[in-house]
Amino acid sequence: MMYELLKFSVHGNYQGKLIALEKGDEFPFDIKRVYYIWGNEKNVIRGHHAHRKLEQVMVCVAGSCDFILDDGREKVKIHLNDPSQGLYIKHNIWRTFTNFSKDCVVMVLASEYYDEADYIRDYNLFLNEVVNN
Ligand code: TYD
Repeated sequence: MMYELLKFSVHGNYQGKLIALEKGDEFPFDIKRVYYIWGNEKNVIRGHHAHRKLEQVMVCVAGSCDFILDDGREKVKIHLNDPSQGLYIKHNIWRTFTNFSKDCVVMVLASEYYDEADYIRDYNLFLNEVVNN
């Protein structure tokens, strides 16, 4: 399964905490795009796609949610609830995410600009493209 849980260094003192992310030992790629997701109903299921090339790191900067990753052979569920943790999802992984806390904000750091042609939005196509090749 092409994912890793990254642990980021926290700069912190009595004033609060700060995490800085840039390509290096703790972060795997140059960041070309950032977007964030919030305001989701608890049981809504988002995602339902894979990417042909794009790599992403998901950071639950507030609250919690679950990611379900599927490489066509096995599925894993990862609970994110810590802003110092990043879920690094490489390409060709089918993902859904759900079980959002009310205060959940997911920040996504992406290796490429937005490109709809990079999406695989049909699960059978995903299996054909990725698993059977
Ligand atoms: P989508 O990736 O389908 O959302 P999710 O998988 O999180 O449910 O994107 C939702 C909409 O937002 C879709 O119309 C495309 C648009 N969008 C952009 O315009 N730029 C982006 O960087 C992203 C990620 C989405």
